[in-house]
Amino acid sequence: MTTPESKTTLPLVHLGITTPEELSALFADLRGRFDADCACAHDESSWKQFRDAWLGRKSGVLTLVTDNWLKPATAELKRAVGAGLNELRAHVESQIEARRVAIESGTEASALRRERVDLSLPGVHRPVGSHHLIRQVFQEIEDIFVSIGFSVVEGPEIETPYYNFEALNIPEFHPVRDDMDTFYLELPSSSDKNTAKTPLLLRTHTSPMQIRTMEKQKPPVRVIVPGKVYRRDNPDATHSFAFHQIEGLAVDTDITFCDFTGTIEYFVKQFFGPSVKTRFRPSYFPFTEPSVEFDVSCPFCGGTGTAASGGTCSKCKGAAWIELFGAGMVDPAVYGFVNYDAKKVSGFAFGIGIDRLAMLKYGIDDIQVFFQNDVRFLRQFP
Ligand code: PHE
Repeated sequence: MTTPESKTTLPLVHLGITTPEELSALFADLRGRFDADCACAHDESSWKQFRDAWLGRKSGVLTLVTDNWLKPATAELKRAVGAGLNELRAHVESQIEARRVAIESGTEASALRRERVDLSLPGVHRPVGSHHLIRQVFQEIEDIFVSIGFSVVEGPEIETPYYNFEALNIPEFHPVRDDMDTFYLELPSSSDKNTAKTPLLLRTHTSPMQIRTMEKQKPPVRVIVPGKVYRRDNPDATHSFAFHQIEGLAVDTDITFCDFTGTIEYFVKQFFGPSVKTRFRPSYFPFTEPSVEFDVSCPFCGGTGTAASGGTCSKCKGAAWIELFGAGMVDPAVYGFVNYDAKKVSGFAFGIGIDRLAMLKYGIDDIQVFFQNDVRFLRQFP
């Protein structure tokens, strides 16, 4: 089959072309073929193939036209062949370039279509953490005390027996040590004689920070100390070998028992709500005198001992009061350890168990959940 481009392999005389009219029909034919094929080049690789087929230097159609039609043309036709060829070349070159541009913008358009951002798609979900409930309760209590002039300090969890016991008026063979018998640390032997002899332990309460604070500063002192403490307790729903306390200490020249109970009452009402009542009962701590236990009227049954449903309140077990924490006026003996003049200063101290307080306020019945890091629990307190 002879196609318009296959005719370019033959000289004009072989094609029987002798007049300018026949020649221009021949060129028109070829151009029509070009136009038809050009439309078929729809991507980069077919476009390249097409371009080479027409403009390829060795055997492209235009080269063949030059070699087979122009060069051997008769003198009469040469001019017309030259003109036809130039016209065709200009057309071919401009169309091929136009096609390239069209294909490129087409790929761009389809790439854009493919990569279009769909704003209605849900984004990548990255879970955001939150403060642990214990930290939240610390924060809540810190805010209350900071608002009445206390500042927050922190201390070491690894303590010396001196700070944990002796300076708090608990000598070595005092019976309260039994309750606090705790985790002593076996340290690698040190060449330094002083440290080699000092046993260390995990603090059993935050009270050592009373001593450390008073050693560092003169009265007035108003601090609270949030932190972790450790005791040799077997784990159950209300015991853990690690738990949390906030120590409070206020010492000045004129602090009375009234300041003490007023401060505690302010805190308890802020924390549990204005309708709760407080009471204190005599207690004993070696480093406070007098010592008390603070109770709060049960915030859940309104201090009646009876639940709204009529039965016994499950929170206070019908007692109407809930034991909150230990406290007292600083024992003058303690001032002796920090070079305060016990005749001139007075003050109070308290130690709040945070885990217990959080359990009470948020209705949690097992202390262990604070330490298990189960997100199903943690998520309930965002
Ligand atoms: N440190 C005591 C305890 O852990 C609590 C306490 C602190 C009591 C301060 C009185 C004053 O049991």
